[in-house]
Amino acid sequence: MADDAFARTLLAWHARHGRHDLPWQTPDPYKRWLAEVMLQQTTVAAAIPYFTRFTERFPDVATLAAASLDDVLALWAGLGYYARARNLHASARLIMTRHGGAFPRTLAAWTALPGIGPSTAGAIVAFAFGVRAPILDANARRVLRRFHGIEGQGTLVTQRLWEHARAHLPRTRIAAYTQAIMDLGALVCRARPNCPVCPLAATCAFEGEAPAVSARTRPERQAVMMLVHRRRGREVLLLRRPPKGIWGGLWSLPECAVLSDVPTRLTELGIDGLVGAPGTPLRHVFTHFALTITPVPVALRPRSCRARANGDIMWHPGGAPAPGVPAPVKRLLNQFW
Ligand code: ADE
Repeated sequence: MADDAFARTLLAWHARHGRHDLPWQTPDPYKRWLAEVMLQQTTVAAAIPYFTRFTERFPDVATLAAASLDDVLALWAGLGYYARARNLHASARLIMTRHGGAFPRTLAAWTALPGIGPSTAGAIVAFAFGVRAPILDANARRVLRRFHGIEGQGTLVTQRLWEHARAHLPRTRIAAYTQAIMDLGALVCRARPNCPVCPLAATCAFEGEAPAVSARTRPERQAVMMLVHRRRGREVLLLRRPPKGIWGGLWSLPECAVLSDVPTRLTELGIDGLVGAPGTPLRHVFTHFALTITPVPVALRPRSCRARANGDIMWHPGGAPAPGVPAPVKRLLNQFW
């Protein structure tokens, strides 16, 4: 298939069968950028309500740059991969300072921003400015791999895939083409492909079914979270998590690995409290592991806590709007109050 036939076929298919009503399908670079960052590790269905809330609260880059990181994380809470929110916020500030609030139009300027790789940058400039830039996200990669019969891993394979991605780009209608290759990967050329309805099937090198996807076994991890409360349960102690790693920068409950570690952890935190009976464990599934959290209430003895509120410690009042806390912590807090 000549290179332009690939794009023509995809564009014709997309006009009839692609997605055309996603909330970020506008040329507004701000919305395009936000959507591509959200969609890096989140499905379309899960991203939509977050995207809507986020753009209502932060309608443009200036508002986002002026917001506190805590406010941004609070709206990101539940989406996971919080480095994305921190990078988004840092990038908003860079767009204001480095680019005077105007969105850059080149791949180089976008990839110089934190958290933006070449594929995300390609998608943003293609969607927002019609720049003829290739993408190689998971969907495009799967389509190209199968179409060209490319197997294996590694830098050389990735290089070949980028070359194909570039070679297939049409001269015009770049935004529609970019959406088309994403949509084909998401709707037809899935892990279990639906080859009979694929517009590229006649010339595709892929043969037969992909190997059966085995039910992934996630490692199971355990944690204990302490609901340290004072003022008869009206306020609960939250600690800010370190910037790196799981739930980086979000507010969470004091933790330890097993129930027998609770007294030591409380001592470390300078807390003298009455430890109650553990509550019902809650299971939270991450991409790479599952976490079972056992909640333990701890009633603070009056005037016993050395933990004073500061930038990393907060006494959170029950009725107040939740700060940026991870989804399972929110559930534990809701159960507690
Ligand atoms: N995945 C990554 N970017 C996307 C987009 N713009 N639309 C749908 N799915 C996507």
